[in-house]
Amino acid sequence: MILVTGGAGFIGANFVLDWLAQSDEPVVNLDKLTYAGNLENLASLQGDARHVFVQGDIGDGALVALLLAQHRPRAVVNFAAESHVDRSIHGPEDFIQTNIVGTFRLLEAVRAHWGSLDEAGQAAFRFLHVSTDEVYGSLAPQEPAFTEQHRYEPNSPYSASKAASDHLVRAYHHTYGLPVLTTNCSNNYGPYHFPEKLIPLMIVNALAGKPLPVYGDGMQIRDWLYVKDHASAIRRVLAAGKLGEVYNVGGWNEKPNIEIVKTLCALLDELRPRADGKSYREQITYVKDRPGHDRRYAIDARKLERELGWKPAETFESGIRKTVQWYLANPEWVAHVQSGAYRDWVQKQYS
Ligand code: NAD
Ligand code: TYD
Repeated sequence: MILVTGGAGFIGANFVLDWLAQSDEPVVNLDKLTYAGNLENLASLQGDARHVFVQGDIGDGALVALLLAQHRPRAVVNFAAESHVDRSIHGPEDFIQTNIVGTFRLLEAVRAHWGSLDEAGQAAFRFLHVSTDEVYGSLAPQEPAFTEQHRYEPNSPYSASKAASDHLVRAYHHTYGLPVLTTNCSNNYGPYHFPEKLIPLMIVNALAGKPLPVYGDGMQIRDWLYVKDHASAIRRVLAAGKLGEVYNVGGWNEKPNIEIVKTLCALLDELRPRADGKSYREQITYVKDRPGHDRRYAIDARKLERELGWKPAETFESGIRKTVQWYLANPEWVAHVQSGAYRDWVQKQYS
């Protein structure tokens, strides 16, 4: 079996669902269930003996040691993190605790467990660390996309904490020989995406008749990948990645934010037209920019394609349509995540 951390969050849950749709290899899922963790994402696995959920913190060394000893997974896939840049600006502390200290404690527990395995067990074991393109900083308009050789230049407390965790993972390979793999992926979108991030926030606000808050001039560029393509890339790296290596994951879909918002408006105009016959575009509102806002991210994913034969299955057009359709088909999920805590966040960030 494998141990997944953060598997009740957006990407982790999609990964677990896809993993169990494609194989019968069980998953132990360790998640703290912060505001971003949601067992409803995993509702379709209820009663499925292949999925064992454990609520807990990756920073709890004793708990992780117990889970490793009990279940003896052949791999750990680490999704657990605080993941929202705007929240890291309001309060970096949780990011330091989970992303840096938590990853360190997880690595320590995994190192001790790995050290206790026999030779064959050690050779087969993998620790896959899921990271982000944001560790590479911001690109100028004409600069080539980030390769794995790009220097680390994180600009937000979020990206700095992820960069620190990447360095720890690398060091555990070089110093202790821990069999690690790291993936650095571009912005994901798709089902179960918490509506604090750009794409789900815009869909949810549009349908609620609320303003669509575009930061600054809306010309910041992100490189978008459908979440299930990220899951397939992680499966591929886990199966065939070279130990100690880093793989960039992306779909060659660079888009300015305003174009994303207009695309979402056009899809909603088609699939769920406003009662007054006007376009959702009417709701677009330019608001104060994010402090230190990175201008452009772009991922060069050629290493993953060349060495491991991975390619995304979705185009941006097919993926974004599926995403909008998913939100339209799942109003209960949306209503449930918009709890009191969610409303407090929206008030703090957008008032
Ligand atoms: P998310 O915020 O939706 O989910 C994070 C999950 O981790 C939640 O279920 C939360 O409860 C859990 N968690 C948080 N702290 C924990 C702790 N201390 N112990 C155990 N569980 C904890 O995040 P996401 O968007 O699914 O991102 C998952 C990973 O992928 C993160 O490491 C993130 O940095 C990385 N990543 C995200 C994106 C993106 O576009 N969302 C892109 C590239 C990489
Ligand atoms: P986000 O989804 O928070 O991801 P990240 O900051 O990790 O890339 O934001 C994506 C882009 O959208 C980013 O440039 C900030 C911008 N954005 C807005 O313009 N308005 C919003 O309300 C949000 C949440 C983001």
